[in-house]
Amino acid sequence: MTVKIAPSILSADIMNLERDVKLAEQAGADLFHIDIMDGHFVPNMSFSPSVVAGMRQVTDKPLDVHLMIENPDAYIKPIVDAGADTILVHAESTQHIYRSIDLIKSLGVKAGVVVNPGTPLETVKELFPVIDQILVMTVNPGFGGQKFITNMTKKIQRLDQLRQTAADDDFEIEVDGGVNNETIAKCAHAGADIFVAGSYLFGQNDITERVDNLRSLAVN
Ligand code: DX5
Ligand code: ZN
Repeated sequence: MTVKIAPSILSADIMNLERDVKLAEQAGADLFHIDIMDGHFVPNMSFSPSVVAGMRQVTDKPLDVHLMIENPDAYIKPIVDAGADTILVHAESTQHIYRSIDLIKSLGVKAGVVVNPGTPLETVKELFPVIDQILVMTVNPGFGGQKFITNMTKKIQRLDQLRQTAADDDFEIEVDGGVNNETIAKCAHAGADIFVAGSYLFGQNDITERVDNLRSLAVN
């Protein structure tokens, strides 16, 4: 599959978000990753659906919305209405993940499931034929700038192997957390397709060079 670089706006300059989004677009971003946190599912708070609507005003690139919230089903429609292209729900955040995925798909956008570092892939295996993306967390969710958990490359590799064994499992594998010039090659080699990067890309004065670096290192 094609390599996609997804800047995470969690690390953008919030007071200059439009400027940073344009810079990332010019640098070659393929899509934008938007983290929504509620202070309950994860110990931090971030953006709300109105930020998704604001992003929709300033870019035509796909908006990849990562929900780190309890009771995700209540927010799915407002986020689709705000202009999301993909919604990613944590398997750990709801007792009925299949229902959340069904709801997202019924609204006509792409659906993805997210697994925390401690969550086994087996937990989400039944979803493989119906989802568009699986996001493997390579840090514990909640904050930008954390260190990549090296063991997760084995998990990505196992996921890629599982994907290859079933004809109807054609989801993309996304990685999020600690992705930078030192870790991206391992993830790509293990089989990842979509690479979220926050602190490596934003707040730096050479974002174009950094996007190029990531893309050239992301060879599977
Ligand atoms: C963390 C978020 C990430 C975060 C990644 O919970 O889901 O999207 O922005 O930041 P970096 O790339 O700095 O690890
Ligand atoms: Zn994220």
